[in-house]
Amino acid sequence: MSSVAGPASEPVALSDVEIGRLRADTPGTASVVHLNNAGASMSPEPVVEAVVGYLRREAEIGGYEAHAESESRVEGVYRSLAQLINAGPDEIALLESATRAWDMAFYAIDVKPGDRILTSRAEYASNAIAILQTVRRHGVVVEVVPDGPDGALSTTALESMIDDRVRLIAVNHVPSQNGLVNPVARIGAIARRAGVLFLLDACQSLGQLPVDVADIGCHLLSGTGRKFLRGPRGTGFLYVDRTILEQLEPPFLDNHAARWTAPDSYRMRSDARRFETWEASYAARLGLGVAADYAMTVGLAAIAARNSALTGRLRSGLDSITGVRTHDRGTVKSAITTFTVEGHHPAQVRDQLRARRVNVSVTTADTALFDMPGRGIDAVVRASPHYFNTEAEVDALLICLEDIRKTPAV
Ligand SMILES: Cc1ncc(COP(=O)(O)O)c(C=O)c1O
Repeated sequence: MSSVAGPASEPVALSDVEIGRLRADTPGTASVVHLNNAGASMSPEPVVEAVVGYLRREAEIGGYEAHAESESRVEGVYRSLAQLINAGPDEIALLESATRAWDMAFYAIDVKPGDRILTSRAEYASNAIAILQTVRRHGVVVEVVPDGPDGALSTTALESMIDDRVRLIAVNHVPSQNGLVNPVARIGAIARRAGVLFLLDACQSLGQLPVDVADIGCHLLSGTGRKFLRGPRGTGFLYVDRTILEQLEPPFLDNHAARWTAPDSYRMRSDARRFETWEASYAARLGLGVAADYAMTVGLAAIAARNSALTGRLRSGLDSITGVRTHDRGTVKSAITTFTVEGHHPAQVRDQLRARRVNVSVTTADTALFDMPGRGIDAVVRASPHYFNTEAEVDALLICLEDIRKTPAV
């Protein structure tokens, strides 16, 4: 695949020829309209080849031997992810999901009773549950920063909530369930000015938008492989700003994260890998590295521009269908579009679309209890195009919905 990225600030539009090549790298596009990239995308062939090739090698020469043989490629994964977010390779830890990465960072923060944790209304269930457990165990206080008029986190409200007791700001970049992009660089500036730790959940933004930790100013960032980054399932990673590493002791340590230095002592690693475990799927990790390289070769600015065009087409198409309602918020929109179809439960809509070979997913209120019930929403259908989708595929979804809307609900 050729590079189509221009200088960082100048997205080069993906041409039809280039889209054709990208689709040829993703054979599944020939048989299914995959608009569920916020759930799990389809990995391109180079990712599949990296994973399968490594597994084959393990079978041929042995697991430890394959690892030894591929040591420099495995090291390359850290460099690729670091480049993706403008960090250093020593600031990257590889984990099995965004949740585990987020948890490892969160539970490593030393908190005391009365400390305040500020989070967003759009926070994801797993993060909220971990925060609530810490409220129970350690007597910290969780406070939800109100949204601004556009539905994104209000940075004015956040700024007014800062005081000496705020220990952590934990918010997401792109929520799962409402189509917006949070103003993360402004949040980072507030956190840095106040000297407060900032943990960013970038699970849904990585691979669909340029994500630069230096611009954002977060201290910690979690990401997943399988969504817009198009890596294998079971992969994720954590970024840890090296200037705060020594403040953090991971909740679990093993003999990769730390060295057993004497019968009664141990010493943690001096890089972000103190958050990792010794055992891991190296096949999946290699796939994750290739996925990051692939996204950078396509170009994150070009991807964001293409996704914005596809999602804009989708949103206006949805808004023009009687009985279909979009629920997206935010001035800056992501590639996630949420909607409901009058008289049809979102799960029925998803299933009927799947029967027509169109993949979307459903997001239910229990994944976003600070957010969805307050908006009177139980569940939404979520369509999330990515750069390899075509305008015709977006239109195919719209045509199916017209059809579904006319059929009596079961
Ligand atoms: C915003 C957000 N954060 C975190 C997660 C959890 O990611 P993972 O399943 O990789 O742990 C998700 C998953 O949908 C998500 O949408």
